[in-house]
Amino acid sequence: MAQFDNKVAVVTGAGSGIGRATAEAFAREGASVVVSDVDIEGGEETVSHIEEAGGQATFVKTDVTDEDAVAAMVETAVSEYGRLDFACNNAGIGGAQKPTADLSFDEWEQVIDVNLHGVWRSMRHEIPAMLDGDGGVVVNMASILGRVGFENASAYVTAKHGLLGLTKTAAMEYAQKGVRVNAVCPGFIDTPLLSEGGLDDPEARKGIEAMHPMNRLGDVDEIASAVVWLCSEGASFTTGEALTVDGGYTSR
Ligand code: NAI
Repeated sequence: MAQFDNKVAVVTGAGSGIGRATAEAFAREGASVVVSDVDIEGGEETVSHIEEAGGQATFVKTDVTDEDAVAAMVETAVSEYGRLDFACNNAGIGGAQKPTADLSFDEWEQVIDVNLHGVWRSMRHEIPAMLDGDGGVVVNMASILGRVGFENASAYVTAKHGLLGLTKTAAMEYAQKGVRVNAVCPGFIDTPLLSEGGLDDPEARKGIEAMHPMNRLGDVDEIASAVVWLCSEGASFTTGEALTVDGGYTSR
């Protein structure tokens, strides 16, 4: 028997990168997975990977800036699979790379709306569904940029710092109600989000690698395994934690 047999997980932004790896990891552990993403093609591809490996998954097109879509995502978990045990709120964007004073309000707001409000919107629907069942675990995808600053990324850094406050507060509120709430803070991980951020350039990539004492980028599976652990019985006393997985970046 796998550790997550008969459990149900939702992963936002599961059509690519870290979210896809996390959805696949949940399925390998036996969970049924609601694969949620604004990108239909990516989301359906993730479902295919899971089904080809013998797992169970359903795609729901969800834009996390749309409250009704987020409600429908959680409703799908309950109507298709009967419950919600785990939620990984992972959908995120990099946003415009400019100094703080050069950002337009729209550029600022877009990043805050997806990366911070999108997680809160998701939790508003996920937590009640968990409370209706046997409790559950929320894992919010923050970043090392929730711990330290980074030039030309002030909206992103602000959203990720905010996520850690949201995580700690919700952890306290639901600690005696059977819902644990944690975050993961990845270092730089090799995904399409980084390519969009200019890391296709080999020199820029080397520079980012060198910021990590391990002198490399992380792999998506190294983040997915942290999410799986936070949802596992082994983490039963862990709540309000921001688990840093960064090859030593923030140890400098
Ligand atoms: P990615 O670009 O590979 O995947 C992000 C996914 O989110 C995409 O499938 C995209 O369609 C989806 N998405 C974007 N906006 C959305 C919206 N409004 N509603 C629903 N889905 C939406 O990126 P990656 O790297 O896998 O990032 C996943 C999360 O990890 C993000 O929250 C990111 O901030 C965080 N992260 C990434 C790091 C990295 O170096 N790649 C480092 C630290 C954190």
